[in-house]
Amino acid sequence: MTSRKILVTGAAGFIGSAFVRYVLRTLPDVEVVAFDKLTYAGNLENLAPVANDARYSIVQGDICDAEAVAASMRGCAWVVNFAAETHVDRSIVDPGAFVRTDVIGTYTLLEAARNLGVERFIQISTDEVYGNAEAPSGESRPSLETDALKPLSPYAASKAGADRLAFSYWATYGLPVVVTRCSNNFGPYQYPEKQLPLFITNALAGRAIPVYGNGENTRDWIHTDDHCSALVAILQAPSEQVVGEVYNVGASEERSIIENARSIVALTGAPESLITFVQDRLGHVRRHAVDSSKIQRTLGWQPTIRFDDGLRETVAWYRDNPEWLAHVLDRRDEFLGAALTLGTKGQ
Ligand SMILES: NC(=O)c1ccc[n+]([C@@H]2O[C@H](COP(=O)([O-])OP(=O)(O)OC[C@H]3O[C@@H](n4cnc5c(N)ncnc54)[C@H](O)[C@@H]3O)[C@@H](O)[C@H]2O)c1
Repeated sequence: MTSRKILVTGAAGFIGSAFVRYVLRTLPDVEVVAFDKLTYAGNLENLAPVANDARYSIVQGDICDAEAVAASMRGCAWVVNFAAETHVDRSIVDPGAFVRTDVIGTYTLLEAARNLGVERFIQISTDEVYGNAEAPSGESRPSLETDALKPLSPYAASKAGADRLAFSYWATYGLPVVVTRCSNNFGPYQYPEKQLPLFITNALAGRAIPVYGNGENTRDWIHTDDHCSALVAILQAPSEQVVGEVYNVGASEERSIIENARSIVALTGAPESLITFVQDRLGHVRRHAVDSSKIQRTLGWQPTIRFDDGLRETVAWYRDNPEWLAHVLDRRDEFLGAALTLGTKGQ
């Protein structure tokens, strides 16, 4: 592959930082311009392993800021947009922040990419845009790229808006856009407001593990490294094959919330009595799952990390990196504090 400069937005978050670490580790001829507002979810410690790499630089900026975006995008052949407000629970409390970053921010990036003649623009969408995974008949089955978008939360709706806006820049202006809809990611460096790192954090601390509703809602899990390898496969594919396409990305590893809680209890050695059922999330999607046969068939991509192996490693990572977690907790994020203690309410 010829040398390429990639603008990675949201690079200090969970998946964006995994992608930066992954491409610098696996693609010798790539330079990375990391761009991130460093919101509560952005963490430069996620990028510490590459901080001294000469092919890496970081800019603190907002994807809604057209000038900052243009200055960082100039000279980049590829753009991968991870930047977003991402937590469903926060979107229920403050939808405006999601519309601003996820929709207006994506618009700002697309405009800059159009003006600067970017060669490939990957919009990181999500399987949340489908709402419940089901056939048009209502039968439950993994979502296909051709399924209707029926987002159920302000987060999912904002991402659906950005997903379709990005597609429209291909359809209208010929901008070389590819949209990916990945399932739930897991792995190291994830902010502990999200299900798996929250359960791990609480299990390690001996705190109640809050399980929404009856715990039966299911998600389809993929390790961040497998997500990253899918994105690299898309970046390396010929334009005529991928531009204007939408790809589901998943590993067909469906687990319910209660199954995850039990696995984490077993892996950490915490008592099962820590598992506590709490009031369900508003508009809680019963099942997210994606059919990834399109990317597997057309690009030859395959996930390689089984959920049970990846979860074991992820638990070990949180156990072995208490200082990373302590620094996150030191920020005294009220929302995070409430999420971590949700299971202790009323006890
Ligand atoms: N986590 C998942 O399971 C999952 C699954 C599918 C798709 N996605 C998508 O992948 C992307 C990354 O998700 P994540 O889990 O890493 O999220 P995250 O919340 O961990 O990280 C988001 C990053 O974006 C940055 N950011 C937020 N607003 C910004 C702005 N206005 N300008 C610049 N940077 C900004 C934050 O500082 C943070 O570093 C998102 O687009 C998300 O919708 C996530």
